[in-house]
Amino acid sequence: MDDKTAEFSTPFERLQAWLAEAEQTEPNDPTAVALATCTLGGFPSLRMVLMKGCDESGIVFYTNLESRKGRELAENPNAAMLFHWKSLRRQVRIEGAVEPVSSQEADNYFASRPRSSRIGAWASKQSREMAGRFEFEAAIAQYTAKFGVGDVPRPDCWSGFRLKPAYFEFWRDRKFRLHERVTFARQQQGKLWTVSELYP
Ligand SMILES: Cc1cc2nc3c(=O)[nH]c(=O)nc-3n(C[C@H](O)[C@H](O)[C@H](O)COP(=O)(O)O)c2cc1C
Repeated sequence: MDDKTAEFSTPFERLQAWLAEAEQTEPNDPTAVALATCTLGGFPSLRMVLMKGCDESGIVFYTNLESRKGRELAENPNAAMLFHWKSLRRQVRIEGAVEPVSSQEADNYFASRPRSSRIGAWASKQSREMAGRFEFEAAIAQYTAKFGVGDVPRPDCWSGFRLKPAYFEFWRDRKFRLHERVTFARQQQGKLWTVSELYP
């Protein structure tokens, strides 16, 4: 229990420390995180996204709001995330409800993306069926021509969410599968966390 409470007073500090280590050791995408959403009818779905912000206010990712995940989060904001860093033999589970980021925050992040990615956000009807790759390439050509050398604004259907964690579990590999599991459960929407350990 070396870093259960003494070294990290909040789960965010611990997550940031583990992320910093993963940045040194992972071959690519240390911020890649699996995101689980769920329909109101109880059918879950799962995919990877890139985490673009992590502090006490929550964990931010960006996507197309009309995608499957976007539609599921619109009907049910409860979500779960899972980081797994093979190089560190660690995982972090996070659960909570999402909130949309502000338009200003989404604009700022969108503006930081490469121009081709911004055009791609206009051309991709994410998660909807396309007749073929040619249809997508035609849309990319159309938006490339439309925006010319001018600014590429953020499409209304492209924005971000902030997952507000209510629960974290930090899992760390130990010899003979005697792993370490430390959980942080938020106390009634407050800033205090109940720290526990689980059997592996
Ligand atoms: C490593 C990795 C990172 C990804 N990051 C994102 C992301 O940040 N946002 C996003 O919308 N899709 C991202 N994707 C694609 C999604 O996994 C997924 O294919 C897409 O968002 C459509 O998901 P949906 O149909 O469930 O909405 C990423 C995929 C991988 C493998």
